[in-house]
Amino acid sequence: MSAQSTVVKPNTVPKLRARKGAEPIVCLTAYTAPMAQLLDPHADLLLVGDSLGMVVYGLPSTVAVTLDMMIAHGAAVARSATKALVVIDMPFGTYEESPQQAYRNAVRILQETGAAAVKLEGGQVMAETVAFLTARGVPVMGHIGLLPQSVNTSGGYAALGTGDLSVWDGIVADAVAIARAGAFNIVVEAVAEPLAVRITQSIDVPTIGIGASAACDGQVLVIDDMLGMSNRTPKFVKRYAELGVAIGEAASAYAAEVRARHFPDANYTYKLKGDNRPPAGEQTGGAKLPAGENK
Ligand code: KIV
Repeated sequence: MSAQSTVVKPNTVPKLRARKGAEPIVCLTAYTAPMAQLLDPHADLLLVGDSLGMVVYGLPSTVAVTLDMMIAHGAAVARSATKALVVIDMPFGTYEESPQQAYRNAVRILQETGAAAVKLEGGQVMAETVAFLTARGVPVMGHIGLLPQSVNTSGGYAALGTGDLSVWDGIVADAVAIARAGAFNIVVEAVAEPLAVRITQSIDVPTIGIGASAACDGQVLVIDDMLGMSNRTPKFVKRYAELGVAIGEAASAYAAEVRARHFPDANYTYKLKGDNRPPAGEQTGGAKLPAGENK
């Protein structure tokens, strides 16, 4: 894959870091160029999340997502966003082994996509890696609370800190460790509201909530979920549109018109120019429009 030139966008890492406790940070996921163009005017940060494994590729979890997948989609989004800061998820298995492995793969992501930062999952255990990357010019977005890449150890996607309050201290310690290591903001996923309050008050960088209440300094949602284009229905997803229904209706109308030979009609058909006539014996074709609709 060819190198992309890194462009400094109006929403820089220091500017977003400085939004702690100020105007909430608007973040959405994006995986493709057209979606990035649509979202760019409205979002401060576009996250090329490894949720693309489930949303775009139909995988059962994010575990099988590869670096090449993230780079291909990341480059498409980074090319298309002129205003929003673009952050790309480091997929499972590309950063946990050592800070050096993380650095090598993060550099590939930044060089080959033109994005400004990477995101990685994990708390205290990843603090050394976050410090290693940030000290070497790789901005890092943290991700604590529910960690989708660890689904095989956690056993599922249940919210944290709602019933078993003994997990609170560990999750707050995760946030503090990642913030101290230099993360410029931290995704907090699926935790009880009072725990989100404590996390947000415990660190001096913005928290970006997904299922972590309005206590966070910003919010992120998976774009296909909020547009009503996925079947995922976690409690925290508000559907701002029903595009899945609209797509189904459009496809159904198209299929009916094609089967009835009503599409394409004259409006969507090339005609011969000027006085040209088809050679003798050639068919002229033409859609069978319902009575009264042939113009
Ligand atoms: O992969 C992703 O989309 C994410 C968000 C849900 C925060 O990590």
